[in-house]
Amino acid sequence: MNITSTFDAWLSEKEALVQKVRAEMGEHRFTHTLAVAKEVLSLADTYDLCEKDAKRLFVAALLHDYTKAYSTEKQIALAKEYGIALSEDDIASPPVLHSRTAAAVCKTLFPLDVDDEICEAIRCHTVGKQEMSLFDKLLFLADYIEETRTHPVCQKTRKEFYEKLASGNNKENTLNDTLRQVLQNTLDYVAIQGNTVHSDSLKMLKNL
Ligand SMILES: [Fe+2]
Ligand SMILES: [Fe+2]
Repeated sequence: MNITSTFDAWLSEKEALVQKVRAEMGEHRFTHTLAVAKEVLSLADTYDLCEKDAKRLFVAALLHDYTKAYSTEKQIALAKEYGIALSEDDIASPPVLHSRTAAAVCKTLFPLDVDDEICEAIRCHTVGKQEMSLFDKLLFLADYIEETRTHPVCQKTRKEFYEKLASGNNKENTLNDTLRQVLQNTLDYVAIQGNTVHSDSLKMLKNL
């Protein structure tokens, strides 16, 4: 797959969806969203997803932060409106709420584009869950390592991930090792901030 030309072609194909995403967020988040959409193409290629699945992962990336600009109050109101069961950990971790609401809102707003697997990958893209599918893992990783991330830890993770692949390391092990590192980084950060560690992340970490 030629990543750049496929990215351009699918962006044109999904133009209406892209414009709706664009209207929900500022420039910085939109740039991040497009970078995640590009990153998933690279990962889909590496992990041999068929074209149909790569395009579905591309849609999940375009929509993953659809509600992230909304206030916590609006997230809670949306959760009520859409009948989303928020866990105690979700409520204790406001940055998680957008993944729960984006999944439900996008499934309702874009039923032709969003199927159950896309919805689930969006739902768990922040803190993971016990049983992550390959599809879930690729969105989760792309969100963390996309090329416009400026945090040194994200850049280091990206560099090491692609270096391991380039030197012929087992692809599945490299993905799981990298995700383990991402979760550990996140858990360390959350602990330093004195915030609650989300139980879904602990479950994912144990299960990788
Ligand atoms: Fe997000
Ligand atoms: Fe994101």
